[in-house]
Amino acid sequence: MADAFSALCAQAWAVGLLAGVSATWLALLLRTARARSRALVCAVASAGGQHGAAAAPHADLAHADGTGVPAPSGGAMLGRYRIERELGRGAMGAVLLGRDPQDGRLLAIKTLALGRQHEGSELAEAQQRFLREAEMASRLQHPDIVRIFEAGQAQGLAYIAMEHVHGHDLQRHTQLAHQLQPPVVLRVVARVADALAYAHTQGVVHRDVKPANVMVDLDAGSVKVTDFGIARFADSSRTRTGMVLGTPSFMSPEQMAGRRVDGRSDLYSLGVMLFQLLCARLPHEADSLAGLMSQIANQRAPDIRSLRPQLPRALADLVALTLEKRPELRPAGGAQLAQDLRLIAARMEVESAQQAPGAVIDAGAVRGDNDDREFLPR
Ligand SMILES: Nc1ncnc2c1ncn2[C@@H]1O[C@H](COP(=O)(O)OP(=O)(O)OP(=O)(O)O)[C@@H](O)[C@H]1O
Ligand SMILES: [Mg+2]
Repeated sequence: MADAFSALCAQAWAVGLLAGVSATWLALLLRTARARSRALVCAVASAGGQHGAAAAPHADLAHADGTGVPAPSGGAMLGRYRIERELGRGAMGAVLLGRDPQDGRLLAIKTLALGRQHEGSELAEAQQRFLREAEMASRLQHPDIVRIFEAGQAQGLAYIAMEHVHGHDLQRHTQLAHQLQPPVVLRVVARVADALAYAHTQGVVHRDVKPANVMVDLDAGSVKVTDFGIARFADSSRTRTGMVLGTPSFMSPEQMAGRRVDGRSDLYSLGVMLFQLLCARLPHEADSLAGLMSQIANQRAPDIRSLRPQLPRALADLVALTLEKRPELRPAGGAQLAQDLRLIAARMEVESAQQAPGAVIDAGAVRGDNDDREFLPR
């Protein structure tokens, strides 16, 4: 493996010198060469094996409809907030649009029915932990992170009052018919990577990075990561009720195994999200939770170029790097990952413009009625 890695490094230098590429591009090639050499070794080891066979819908167990969580309806009060309507519903409860009568501003209020999952002293402990987690998350102040204003409890519900975000979550763009163009994907994911880098320096690990937790307004150029730190709380309650694991497909091997996680686990989950936005499928798919867990623990994700050959090799290598099983092999941090993604996006845009001056950029294949947008500053 060391030989393969050295050969790739030498190759990267040679290509760089011949093509006269910039030092930063060369540095990126060297960083990702490790992932490529590992992929080669694995490919040899498992020759004949098949990656990502067609699979039944994956086990997003907690996303079944009908959480059964009661939520105040329009006109009712929750704490000091007047509820206007429901914005959406997740595994733990409803997200409501509420107005703060003190200053008239609109907020999104996430509700969690703690009493459904805990009793007695366990409930008291869960309530305290919830408030602690929300307090940690409320300290985060970043333009691309949804602000948390208050956490509290009322009418048997725990709630988090947060910034109301316009737009929609990225879930929609994981479908083939609504795919974003690759450079747009890279720029959005780079924004998320930077937001995660900031949170990690503040000691907060997200733990539930997935398309449903990233809200975008493509016209306004806004990207907002939501649900910071809530997953730790939510996960444990789900586990207690046997509902298990919010979104196992996005979990890193170490998170799946119940080991201690740090920011590198978030980068893995971000890699899964990146993969899904680029390929309209998940890197690991199985028809049972046990099968999925085994794949996440043991099997390399497919090369994105086997699914979408037009994507650049550097991007495939970077995706492979974020999906490394061992945290220490993943990108050094969110900021590094963001920088590399932007570099590749810029290249794709330049190459695309060179190939078809004046044309709309799509360095990957144009498919279906993609949600084409000119995007984004930064
Ligand atoms: N701050 C917000 N502003 C506006 N809408 C929001 C906000 N937060 C959540 N929503 C809406 O509420 C929906 C449900 O969010 P919620 O976080 O409860 O579920 P989820 O992320 O899909 O799943 P999970 O329960 O695993 O977190 C989101 O898809 C989004 O449409
Ligand atoms: Mg959410």
